[in-house]
Amino acid sequence: MNQAPAPPLDRRFAVAPMLEVTDRHCRYFLRLLSRRALLYTEMLSVGAILNGDRQRLLDFDPIERPLALQVGGSEPAAMAEAARLAGDWGYDEININCGCPSARVRHGRFGACLMAAPKSVARAAAAMRRACRLPVTVKCRIGIDDRDDYAFLRDFVDRVADAGVGVFIVHARKAVLGGLTPKQNREIPPLDYEMVRRLKADRPDLAVVLNGGLSSLDQAAVEAAGLDGVMLGRQVYETPCLLAEVDRRLHGDERPAPARADVVEAMRPYLALRLAEGVPLHLMTRHLSGLYHGLPGARGWRRQLNEAAARPGAGLEVLAEALALVEPQAAGRQAA
Ligand SMILES: Cc1cc2nc3c(=O)[nH]c(=O)nc-3n(C[C@H](O)[C@H](O)[C@H](O)COP(=O)(O)O)c2cc1C
Repeated sequence: MNQAPAPPLDRRFAVAPMLEVTDRHCRYFLRLLSRRALLYTEMLSVGAILNGDRQRLLDFDPIERPLALQVGGSEPAAMAEAARLAGDWGYDEININCGCPSARVRHGRFGACLMAAPKSVARAAAAMRRACRLPVTVKCRIGIDDRDDYAFLRDFVDRVADAGVGVFIVHARKAVLGGLTPKQNREIPPLDYEMVRRLKADRPDLAVVLNGGLSSLDQAAVEAAGLDGVMLGRQVYETPCLLAEVDRRLHGDERPAPARADVVEAMRPYLALRLAEGVPLHLMTRHLSGLYHGLPGARGWRRQLNEAAARPGAGLEVLAEALALVEPQAAGRQAA
């Protein structure tokens, strides 16, 4: 049981929750690139947590911390039970998804449609806070459908904050419910960073984290000036080496950024362990695809990790073969 009061989390840089992306294998890899970034799980519905294979869904490696569990749901008793489990499992935060626009999620009455039901979110958050000692946080959009004025966002935040939520991660575009796919909902509605900065200016006591369309640490520093942090998703996945700069640039950690080959080396024992448990290699190595982005041999590296690694019986030799395409010297050392 993890009942010790959680230390305050450093929110300067977080990696966004991404379904079918930020699973535990991905997070292990990302953690090798940054000791300090706050990581999030994929969204798990509370139904799955309460009725599904809990261990498979919730287990993680201790090195993944600091780690937040993101949940989708709204029914207070179920949300409270999920929060209690998150505390027991050793997570550092529990986050309520109020930003996902998918129809499936909407029919389950969670995700972005909850922005129209702040009382439900507040009730759920209050129950969750009673059930655990973790920070209960919210990830939301700046609006939904035609409710995209600043007052709508501020009122939502105020009502949820009244229930004791002190941290809001805001994806700075509205969600269009019905009509756009989740992917289009991450691209088509225009970004409005100013609205997020205005929220922080009006509610300085709340922690406000900016998310959406940020593509570099430089840009993030400019756009999130005065805010409590940034959350990046797609850019981190496509170019994970961006993370290797986070500890030094945002946290003043003077230790040198890890070299790519060292990260690959550090993945090997983890991969071997999971392979022995029966996890298919490519489900883990796919997350390393972007490590050599933009460098000679990157295409071959990606192909090995996604295609060769998917062949029946594929083992760690695939990783060595992939490495030989991008780092012949390092691969030679591994083979020795
Ligand atoms: C493949 C994928 C899956 C996503 N799954 C989730 C999710 O489970 N929960 C969530 O709150 N947001 C999810 N998102 C949205 C991201 O967390 C983030 O808000 C969005 O991608 C904008 O940030 P970015 O431009 O830095 O990627 C997902 C995004 C992508 C690309």
